[in-house]
Amino acid sequence: MPSVFLKTYGCQMNERDSEAVAAQLVAKGYSLAPSEAVADVVLLNTCSVRDNAEQKAIDKMTNLAGQFRKQRPGVVLGYLGCMAQSRGKELIDQLPDVDLVVGTQKFHRVADYVDDLLAGRRDKIVDTEEERGSEATIKEHLLNGAAKGKAVSAFVSIMQGCNQYCTFCIVPYTRGQERSRTIPDIVAECRELVARGVKEITLLGQIVTSYGRRDKWQVTGDTSAAPLPPATCPLSPFVQLIEAVHAIEGLERIRFTSPHPKGYGDDLVEAYARLPKLVESAHLPVQSGSDRLLKLMHRGYTRARFLDIIRRLRAVHPEMGITTDIIVGFPGETEADFAETLSLAREVEFDNAFVFKYSPRRDTPAAAMPDQLPEEVIEARHAQLLAVINEIAERKNKACEGRVLQILVEGPSRKNPARLEGRTRANKIVIFEGSERHIGQVMDVRIVRAAPFTLYGDPAIMNLTE
Ligand code: SAH
Ligand code: F3S
Repeated sequence: MPSVFLKTYGCQMNERDSEAVAAQLVAKGYSLAPSEAVADVVLLNTCSVRDNAEQKAIDKMTNLAGQFRKQRPGVVLGYLGCMAQSRGKELIDQLPDVDLVVGTQKFHRVADYVDDLLAGRRDKIVDTEEERGSEATIKEHLLNGAAKGKAVSAFVSIMQGCNQYCTFCIVPYTRGQERSRTIPDIVAECRELVARGVKEITLLGQIVTSYGRRDKWQVTGDTSAAPLPPATCPLSPFVQLIEAVHAIEGLERIRFTSPHPKGYGDDLVEAYARLPKLVESAHLPVQSGSDRLLKLMHRGYTRARFLDIIRRLRAVHPEMGITTDIIVGFPGETEADFAETLSLAREVEFDNAFVFKYSPRRDTPAAAMPDQLPEEVIEARHAQLLAVINEIAERKNKACEGRVLQILVEGPSRKNPARLEGRTRANKIVIFEGSERHIGQVMDVRIVRAAPFTLYGDPAIMNLTE
């Protein structure tokens, strides 16, 4: 059978979609190629969130096309995902070597389309249609992929799309309207994963705190039932889902990404105290520390409200690991606005943050706003904020030295495969010397050394706690 090389750009949602596509191809008998050089099919699963992510995929495809045109003209080339959704057929018009363009609601069709192209039944395929029910099609897992070893941690897609329409963001256009899977459907997938040895599940979606809000009946999975009035259940659909996953025996840890700050109601904050498998970790994108910009961005909260969420979370768990996303150089961002972002970063003391340079995206309101900032200003602010973030992150990592932390052992360290790697509940990576049988175990290690982004655990203490 032919082999497929699949390369993924962008977020964890994209990684998860690629995994499901790969699993579907493998189920049909395809093998996964270790590199593009030996593959019969090369698929790029793309990201549109910033221009450079799109550019990387386009450059890669242009190179591949040039390379294969002479040597192996039969290789099938395809774009999947967000950029495929937003650019569609235009991608083939620009580079006619491309055979396949599949949008974000059609990942489950990729294997059939590849069959058709290889068999010569069709010449070019572009499918960027919407599809009812497509949110429930990202289900298959590749738990024992050669490179991955035994899977300890798995990602489960719970919803698709976003209706927040932040003015800078292309996601509502590439991923569509919010659509949620039912609780029974998600729980069944999680159960299956746990039965196959998975210990940690990360619930995934573009805005997971909005899970089930648009379709209340989905909470029970009973499509014939009338929507429940919100007053009959005090818990948001998202917290109901977490509870249902929490009840799965053998599951050790639950994470989720990405939430929206406005979705942090009391029920979710309280869930961290009540549900021990829900680990003390939150990726809470703030984007800016300036109320003026938060409003222009259409974020739906103020600086004070964001700080209040952090305060409530830390009241529940003082050790809560909190990370964020911040954009610098949003149109019209003044020195004063930027100073507010710097001061917010210092005030919250994030464990880490992704700092992004604003990138104008097609069809988004921010792209048409006045006062787009010059590149040099954006660069300078990016460097300045990053320095503050890194200094705080290092200091917080250092503070872990000498402490005993609980980790879930995931497998060989990516940096040094002779060692093992695990994560603390607060989502910090810990490297230590252990053996194969520790993989998948929850254990305590003493932190002996902290590097800027990694902690090192003490094997002696580890042995004592076996
Ligand atoms: N809630 C979504 C966010 C997707 S985009 C999720 O996690 O799936 C991820 C991050 O990219 C955002 O939080 C934002 O900080 C950044 N981002 C989005 N659009 C951007 C743009 N136009 N320019 C720069 N950064 C952007
Ligand atoms: Fe994008 Fe805002 Fe939704 S950042 S994914 S529109 S919450």
